[in-house]
Parts: sequence; C-alpha cells; structure tokens
Amino acid sequence: MNLAQIRAAIPALANSIYLNTGTFGPMPTVVADEIRRVYGEIERQGTFSPGIFWQMELEGFEAVRQQVAGLLHADPAEIALTRNVTDGINIVLHGLDWQPGDQVILTDQEHPSGTVPWLALAQRAGVELRWLELVDDADEIVARFQRLLTPRTRLAQLSHVSCLTGLRLPIERLCGLARQAGVLTLVDGAHAEGQFSVDAPALGCDFYAACGHKWLLGPQGIGMLYVRREQVERLRPLWLGWDVGQTLDRAGRSYQLQATAARFEQSTRPWPLYLAFGKAIEFVQGVGLEAIEARVQGLRRGFVERLTAMPGVTVLSPRDPALGTGLVTVRVAGWSYEALQQRLWHQRRIITNVIREYDALRFSLAFFTGEDELATALEAIASLTDAPEGSPPRGKR
Ligand SMILES: Cc1ncc(COP(=O)(O)O)c(C=O)c1O
Repeated sequence: MNLAQIRAAIPALANSIYLNTGTFGPMPTVVADEIRRVYGEIERQGTFSPGIFWQMELEGFEAVRQQVAGLLHADPAEIALTRNVTDGINIVLHGLDWQPGDQVILTDQEHPSGTVPWLALAQRAGVELRWLELVDDADEIVARFQRLLTPRTRLAQLSHVSCLTGLRLPIERLCGLARQAGVLTLVDGAHAEGQFSVDAPALGCDFYAACGHKWLLGPQGIGMLYVRREQVERLRPLWLGWDVGQTLDRAGRSYQLQATAARFEQSTRPWPLYLAFGKAIEFVQGVGLEAIEARVQGLRRGFVERLTAMPGVTVLSPRDPALGTGLVTVRVAGWSYEALQQRLWHQRRIITNVIREYDALRFSLAFFTGEDELATALEAIASLTDAPEGSPPRGKR
C-alpha cells in the first residue's frame, strides 16, 4: 500500500484530520471525476438520449450491480441497489407478513435506522422485540442469542459491526444458530463493507444491508441489499412502480416483476451516482480489503493502547483485536461529547462523530489514516485530560 499515493487521491485528507469515515467517507477524486464526467455528458447529449440513458446509465447500473455482487461474493440476481442501509432494512421489514406475538431479536446497539422501524412495527402489529445485550465476548454473545431464540422468533437483526463501539459480532455463528432454528437474519453491514472482506452467502444470512457512503468512499445516497436467492420471491416488494426489467400487460390487467432482487428497486434513480460508486468500489478494491483490514488493525492497536494508558480516558471499544474494528469510541472525564468534538475540531481540525448515549466521541480509523494524524489526535486528547471542559488550550492560559 502506497500511503502517500492513496492520500493524494483523496483531497479532503489534506484539509483536516478526517477521522469520521464511519459517518461518511471522504471522496476520492476518481469518484468525483466520474460524477462530473457523467453529468457533463448528460449536459451535452441530453438525458434521454441513447448514449446516456441506455448505454451509460442502465448498462452502467448493471455493471455496478456486478461489482457489488463481487464485493459481497453473491450472485448479481441477489443484489438490489438501494439508496442506503435504511432502505434495505425497511425493504425486509415491510416485505414480511407479521402476526401479533411474532418475535424479533435485535441487538441493543443497532443504529436508529435498525431500531425505530422495529419499534414502530411492534406498536403497529404487536410484534415482540427481544434485545440481545452486547458484551465484548463472542462466546457470551452467542450464548445470549441462543437463550433469546424461541419457537416464535421470526427474524434477528444484527449489526455486523456496532456503530456505537465498533464491536465486530460473531455474525457467522449467530446466523448459523438462527438458520438451524428457522429464523431469518438481516445483517446491517454499514460498518463492515469496506473495512474487511464480506462473503454474505458464506455468513449464512438471509439479508445483508449496506451502504456505499461510509467505508467504501462512494457518493451519499447509494446502498445495497443482498437477498438470499430463496428469499427473493418470498419477500413482498415494499414499493412498486416502473422498471425497464418488468412487464405490464395493460389489456390483461397484469404485470410481471423481475425474477431477481432488482424487483426491490423501481423508477427513476440518480444513475450517475451509482456509476461513481462503481469507481469507489474499484478504488477500495485496488487497495485490497485484506490490506485495508491489516492496516486498520495495526493503527487501532497503537491508538487504543495509548488511550488506555491515559488517565481520565475510557475506551468503550473492545480491547480484543478479534472484536475490534476501525471505530474507536472514547470518553474523556470532565468533557461532554459536544465540547470535546468542538475542541478537537477548532484546535487541530480533527473531524469525529459523537456517540450521545455514552457521552463519548467516535474516531474512525481508516486505511488512509496516517500515524502522524493519530499522534496529533492523541496529543490533543492528552492535553485535555487534566483540563476541565471549556478551559483554554494548554499553553494559552
Ligand atoms: C450501523 C448503521 N446502520 C444504519 C445506518 C444508516 O445508514 P443509511 O444512512 O445508509 O441508511 C448507519 C449510519 O450511520 C449505521 O451506522
């Protein structure tokens, strides 16, 4: 991995210490160039011209489906291209018939997008939610999950990586147990895709929802949903409309949906952004997911060790490297998350996200993060540990 070359290809890295890929990844120039190129062609040729709509947008879109399928080790017929993770979760939730008393298992660290729709379903349809409380111990997570399974469990929604702490769940084991019990699994892969290699069919899940705008460095508003082959025709499409792949027989008053997961997509989309997403996938795959995982693990080790040794600092992410990822959540005694986030930004141009529920900050360590950047972040945090919130930076008192 040539770090200097990679960093030069992502201009935002020159303007800040970008430690927030877990919210939105910084965009490589090749991705922005593709957006400019395609919209430039649209400007020149007109949107519904053969060179644009049929050749560039629709054929390009199918090529991106192939790329996404490659990324997830799935068949293109099992991939729906969505707008985001939330789309994927809702497509699954609203695609199933629910009866009062059905049970759904959720972890207690799902994102609001993986929690609110289920809370609403529980209110509306009398579905019972059972909460899997996560701990930094894979065997214990599996044991707890097993205890939550009952004959009434219909589905488990599990984050592959917790957005709160970066904990990497033993997804394959959990999906295996669910499968044995006849329970469907929906994995939220928001923080997995682009951090390490994901083989959705091998994980044994039924559905895998992810997005392009975090660790895959794609444009905002691009997502993907893997639907295991046998679930494609079982899941009722949430929305229906037009699509070039489906047919409508007006005389016969009938229609035929596509046989593939493309049936979960419909109507007009921002196709140029999907083409740019294809460039983002190429960029990340060019670096290589194994190399990415190894580099982030290396960065994380040093960062967590140094933070753990600092008085007043609590690392809320797992210590065990097998359970840890590039998300590192940190609380600093005497500092609220807002004050800490603001201070790091104003003092050192460090971009982070907040974890309100833990009064903590989340640092995203990505493959392009420099050791020097983490050293700056560590120094900035260390300078705050004996300064109460709101006091001026050290040396300026
Ligand atoms: C674990 C997780 N799931 C879902 C989401 C929502 O993502 P999207 O905006 O792509 O729907 C996020 C966003 O941060 C997330 O962290």
